[in-house]
Amino acid sequence: MISVKNICCIGAGYVGGPTMAVIAHKCPDIKVTIVDLNAERIAAWNDEDVNNIPIYEPGLAEIVKSARGKNLFFSTEVEKAIDEAEMIFISVNTPTKTYGVGKGMAADLKYIELCARQIATVAKSNKIVVEKSTLPVRTAEAIKNILDNTGNGARFQILSNPEFLAEGTAIDDLINPDRVLIGGDTDEEGQKAIEALVNVYSNWVPKEKILTTNVWSSELSKLTANAFLAQRVSSINAMSELCEKTGADVNEVARAIGMDSRIGSKFLKSSVGFGGSCFQKDILNLVYIAKSYGLKEVADYWEQVVIMNDHQKKRFATNIVKTLYNTVSGKKIAFLGWAFKKDTNDTRESAAIYVADDLLNEQANIAVYDPKVEESIIYRDINYLGTRAAEENKQGIEVLNDPYNACKDAHAIAVLTEWDEFKTYDWQKIYNNMKKPAFVFDGRNILDADKLKNIGFIFQQIGK
Ligand code: UDX
Ligand code: ADP
Repeated sequence: MISVKNICCIGAGYVGGPTMAVIAHKCPDIKVTIVDLNAERIAAWNDEDVNNIPIYEPGLAEIVKSARGKNLFFSTEVEKAIDEAEMIFISVNTPTKTYGVGKGMAADLKYIELCARQIATVAKSNKIVVEKSTLPVRTAEAIKNILDNTGNGARFQILSNPEFLAEGTAIDDLINPDRVLIGGDTDEEGQKAIEALVNVYSNWVPKEKILTTNVWSSELSKLTANAFLAQRVSSINAMSELCEKTGADVNEVARAIGMDSRIGSKFLKSSVGFGGSCFQKDILNLVYIAKSYGLKEVADYWEQVVIMNDHQKKRFATNIVKTLYNTVSGKKIAFLGWAFKKDTNDTRESAAIYVADDLLNEQANIAVYDPKVEESIIYRDINYLGTRAAEENKQGIEVLNDPYNACKDAHAIAVLTEWDEFKTYDWQKIYNNMKKPAFVFDGRNILDADKLKNIGFIFQQIGK
């Protein structure tokens, strides 16, 4: 039986950081080293004040504090960590390609390939390499090819171990996972490698929750899980538009269908649209794979989930303009929330970015408040779209660290993230300081409609 004592993880991001912190916390006998090329990010992970680690995730700082310097290490010395480890997790980013064949659809595997080449060059002893990033089916095969053909004779086993954690609840998802999925080769060596990883997780996950499959099933399961989850959000969002036209209430519909045990109640919250680094990327990836096998109907079917999501974001922005008498030019619109969901400082693919872009096209002045997102990130996000010059974005968007100031003199408020604190605000005070009539567009259905209407707000929620 292989008992792993030294793990290295390449990539100290939203997946690698929390996952390895939990492994270190739960397996005090295993040394875990997380490496990253980004020296600034590593320095932040090593910051003496644990509250300054680069990722905000409830419970993460405490876990990092408990293990850091004992059996959890953050470093930029990628090669040293690879050399010392028996098991190497690859947790680097796999964004959608922005160039060449598969542009806008396929996953860009350049970071993965770089990792594989680096492992091949450095490794002097046998290694188990674990894919943790979301990858297209059959990436493991590509990694194996590179390792076997460029290495120094060391032998490699490749496992797929997709991560199912959701941001904002990552620590709980890691400590109490619904399941852990491990895919590996069906031959004897493959099975031994699987067993080694099963043993790591068995330190805290019950054996019956650890599923083992072949590599491709594991890779495809991750894409499928995210596609199904995103599809639920697009399905309820599609109904939200119909509800708005017919007088039905989308929350009531969601509740009614969710009580059917075959449907289930989770993931039926209508919103301004899903964001995050996974859903859109994974679906586009799935669409690309289906197309590359000539499966047009399969590709079109899944693509519609993303098309629906884009529509939802767009119609939220259009509705704001329409409701504010067809012009927001020169009007201040306050954004409550910029993160793609609550309890995270991650903004990748956040609906807020796209709504802001549309409103800036209409010459609105946007004032953003988010409890965890830094000003520089907000400008980075909007500049990344490339719609207008950075200078113009700077003029159009103001970032404030106080929600009351963000809403002061605004014509309208748009709720883009479901942060709990928004519900606790003194809404009367906010109303008093706004231009009248004062509008609230609740893109997350979190505020009390009756209360706000009684204060005097013109109040709109998605799907009502
Ligand atoms: C997702 C998957 O849940 C997770 O298993 C996978 O590992 C990574 O991708 P994440 O993107 O972190 O996790 O968050 P998730 O909670 O799934 O939310 C994604 C987006 O959907 C958010 O923008 C969220 O606000 C939105 N959403 C979710 C809704 O609009 N309505 C819902 O009912 C649920
Ligand atoms: P995820 O959400 O998948 O964790 P992130 O972008 O948050 O994605 O994190 C991925 C990390 O991987 C980044 O910090 C990036 O610097 C790092 N990275 C990418 N390629 C390499 C590499 N070849 N070696 C080390 N780190 C890398």
